[in-house]
Order: sequence, then C-alpha cells, then structure tokens
Amino acid sequence: MTGKAPLVEVENVSVRFGEVHAVDGVSFTVERGEILGLVGESGSGKSTLGRTVVGLVRHPSGRIVFDGRSVHEGSRAAQRALRMRMQVIFQEAKASLSPRHRIGWLLQEPYAINKVPKAGRRTSEGLLAEVGLPAEIATKYPHQVSGGQARRVSVARAIALRPDFLFADEATAGLDASTAASLLNMLRDLVDENGLTILLVSHDLNVVGAIADRIAVMYLGRIVEMGPAEGVVGRPSHPYTRALLASVPVVDASEIGRVVAPLEGEPPSSIAPPPGCHFHPRCAHAIPPMLADASGVRRGGTEAHGLLPPLARSTTDMRSDDRLDEEVVVRNILRGQPGVRFAKRSQEGVRSSRKQCWRSSGMSGSN
Ligand SMILES: Nc1ncnc2c1ncn2[C@@H]1O[C@H](COP(=O)(O)OP(=O)(O)OP(=O)(O)O)[C@@H](O)[C@H]1O
Ligand code: SF4
Ligand SMILES: [Mg+2]
Repeated sequence: MTGKAPLVEVENVSVRFGEVHAVDGVSFTVERGEILGLVGESGSGKSTLGRTVVGLVRHPSGRIVFDGRSVHEGSRAAQRALRMRMQVIFQEAKASLSPRHRIGWLLQEPYAINKVPKAGRRTSEGLLAEVGLPAEIATKYPHQVSGGQARRVSVARAIALRPDFLFADEATAGLDASTAASLLNMLRDLVDENGLTILLVSHDLNVVGAIADRIAVMYLGRIVEMGPAEGVVGRPSHPYTRALLASVPVVDASEIGRVVAPLEGEPPSSIAPPPGCHFHPRCAHAIPPMLADASGVRRGGTEAHGLLPPLARSTTDMRSDDRLDEEVVVRNILRGQPGVRFAKRSQEGVRSSRKQCWRSSGMSGSN
C-alpha cells in the first residue's frame, strides 16, 4: 500500500469496439475504502469501463494504475498478481456460475485457479456464512438457488481471495427491493469492516444513491458529472443528472420540487455520437457553442450549468446515524427517493474507524 494515494487511478481511458466509442477519454480515481457509484443509461459504457479497470478489456488507450502499478503493463505474473486483488461481480450473476458444478465447488475454484495453498483457503461454508447464506447452499447447483442467493454466491466467490477492490456490475439488478437492500447493506459492511473498495455500477440512481460515497454519472462513454453522493443526488448540476433524477417517480408531491422534465428519447448512437456536448440533442439548455466545439462545451457547459436554478430536493430524510436499517432502505427504494441514503461518515472517518484490511491482517488466501 502506498499511503493515501488513491487505490485506482484512471487516466484518459478510451475503449472502442470497431466503430463504437464505448468509453471516451475518461479520468477518475477511486479512493481506498470508498464505494464509487457509476450510473448511466443502458449502453453508456459502464460495464466496459469497469471491465477495463480490472484488466478484462485488452489494449485500452490511456492508463489505469492500481495501487501504484499499471494494470495493463508488466510481466504476466505481475499482472496476474495484481488481478487477484481486483475481483468482479458480473452483471449476469447466474450466467457467471457454471451450471455443471455445485456451489461448494465453485467457491473453491478461485483458490484452485490461483494455486492458493490449502492453509490459505476458506471453506465454502465459511464463505457462505460471510454473505449470510446457510451451509447447505454449498450442495446445490446454481439453477437450484434464487436470484438473490446467486448474487450472494457471486459476492462470496469474489471475496474468496480477499481482494482489495471489487467491481460490482449491476449487483442488485432484477432483485426485489428487500433483497436488494440487504445485499447493499452487505456490501457496505464489507467496505466498513474489511477495508474493501468498490466500484458499483448501476443504471439506477436509487441504488447508487443509497450506498455510494461518491457518484460518477456516465453518458455516451463520458463522465459528465462526478462528486460526493449527497451533492450529485441532492444538488445535481448537469442537465443529464437532473433529468435522470426527474425520471424517478414522485409519490409525495411535497417532498421534492422537481422542475426538470424527465429524460425523453433514446441516447444517440455511440457509433456517431453528436459533436460537442454529446447530450445537446436532448438538452433544453443547449446553445450554439455546445453543439460543435468540445473545448467551448466544457467552458460554456460549466458556466451554463452554474446558472441553472437549483433543483430543490428534500433532505429531511437524510439520516445522521451510522447505518440505515433495511426497512428504511426498502421504503426509500420503493418510494423512488434517491435523496435518502446510507449516512456515511466522512472519508477520514471511514478510514480511521474501519477494521484493518483483511489482506494486511494476515487473512489473505494467497499467503
Ligand atoms: N464486446 C463488445 N463488442 C462490441 N460492442 C460492445 C461490446 N461490449 C460493449 N459494446 C458496446 O459498447 C457500448 C457500451 O456497452 P456497455 O455494456 O459498457 O454499456 P452499459 O452502460 O454497461 O449498458 P447496460 O446498462 O445495458 O449494461 C454499447 O454500445 C455496446 O453495444
Ligand atoms: S454543455 Fe450545454 S448542451 Fe451540454 S448538457 Fe450542458 S447545457 Fe446542455
Ligand atoms: Mg452493463
């Protein structure tokens, strides 16, 4: 570990699939012990960006540094060692679990692949207990468990090697609100108790707003807004973020003064994205300099965004205690109220209060 440097540094990364600009010049950092939420519509490039960060997309342009080392450079052995510390919960949880093996076998597979000595392995039952599942799940095949259980199995598999970093791609997709809330609580606990760092991808701002420390909003391959979750959800500045929030159904008219029209239409093609600001064809605030010139867009856009009237959102439900109980999270997800979220301590507080990282505490399966 290298002191207070970010765990992950992404510098001007772009990914193309043929003519598709999946990721377009993205830069950001992920701090140690934080949950960074990544939101955006379908096709905005969230999965591609996350997969690139963990080294699953070959030859991106730009640079990704993990704990001071480049993810895409160095010997095979060095890259392999680095990737053991970065694990993934795939978007299709059940599909990522081989149907031919029992779950107990699947949970031991990461150890076998990485040749972890027996003494460094945890039992499948122990891993299942860590994610709140009974031991008998080890005897079942993936098709014999529910969607929520499959997600938890995916988490158990991902944490088997005691990683430092988890890329969780749509971890709650398709789950009912109660199961989603309990999975989010579990991820939060992994961060607070084990020093894990998470990149949490979702198309749902409610999910990300409920758990993330910071949020990055992605549109057509670019990050258009990024900041502390309270700010992005409570005082969004980019018209796209505002439109995403305005798309959330309002059940209590007194709670939010939403004055922004919800997002309409489909995103433009990522084969030929609009010039200038990619969002301009859907933006009510577009002016000529934003339609063509990328540098002008940045200046004009920032100025224009600063001049937009504040989007009044209720903060009365913000909680000041450490952790929301499941019932409250469920209620708020059901209410479509992204302004309500886990109340987290400051970053410094998170770092100082969390337990020792499981890797440095001698629990690493690779040792
Ligand atoms: N392997 C691939 N080959 C070709 N195009 C791809 C590939 N993977 C992704 N794409 C394209 O890249 C763009 C971004 O896709 P990506 O899956 O990263 O989006 P996403 O934000 O994760 O979407 P979703 O919310 O639907 O999961 C899309 O236009 C997609 O069609
Ligand atoms: S830069 Fe201009 S067109 Fe783009 S989102 Fe901002 S106001 Fe709208
Ligand atoms: Mg995706």
